[in-house]
Amino acid sequence: MSIRKIVMHPAEILEQICRPVEKFDKKLAKILDDMYDTMIENDGVGLAAPQIGLNLRAAIVDIDDEFGTIEMINPRIVKTAGEQTGPEGCLSFPDLFGEVTRPDFVKIEAFDRKGRSYSLEAEGFLARAIQHEIDHLDGILFTTKVIRYLKEDELKGVETE
Ligand code: CO
Repeated sequence: MSIRKIVMHPAEILEQICRPVEKFDKKLAKILDDMYDTMIENDGVGLAAPQIGLNLRAAIVDIDDEFGTIEMINPRIVKTAGEQTGPEGCLSFPDLFGEVTRPDFVKIEAFDRKGRSYSLEAEGFLARAIQHEIDHLDGILFTTKVIRYLKEDELKGVETE
C-alpha cells in the first residue's frame, strides 16, 4: 500500500489531455492500487491519474455502492441522457465546492486493469462521479463547469472527487 501525494490546483498536469494506457502490466496495477489507497486516505469517491501526477488515461470511482471500485482505463462516454444538478468537490481543490450540471445517465466503455473491455451504465451520483473523473483525463476541471459555489453551511454530505 502506498499513498501518493495529490497534485493540487494550479498545476499543468491537471489541465493536460492524458495519453492512453498502452501496457496493462504490473506497473499499471500498482498505480491503480496506489490510487485506491490515496482516494480512501483522503475520503474521496474518485481519483484520476493526473491527480497523482501521471499523464495517463486511468481513473477510479468508488461511491460505496454495489458497484464497488470501478477502474476505468481509456474510458469513453458512449451515451448520455437527462440532466442533473448537484454539488461537487475535487481532491485537487481543497475546501472548494460547487454545483455542476451534468447528464443524469451515462454509458461508458473502458478497460479494466487486465485489458479486458467492459461497458457500464450509471445514473445519478455515480454517473456524476464517473463524468468528473473522465473530465480529469481530458484536463477539464469541475471549476470550469460550476454554476454556483457552495457556502460552508451547504456542505453537509458533499463528496470530493
Ligand atoms: Co476531481
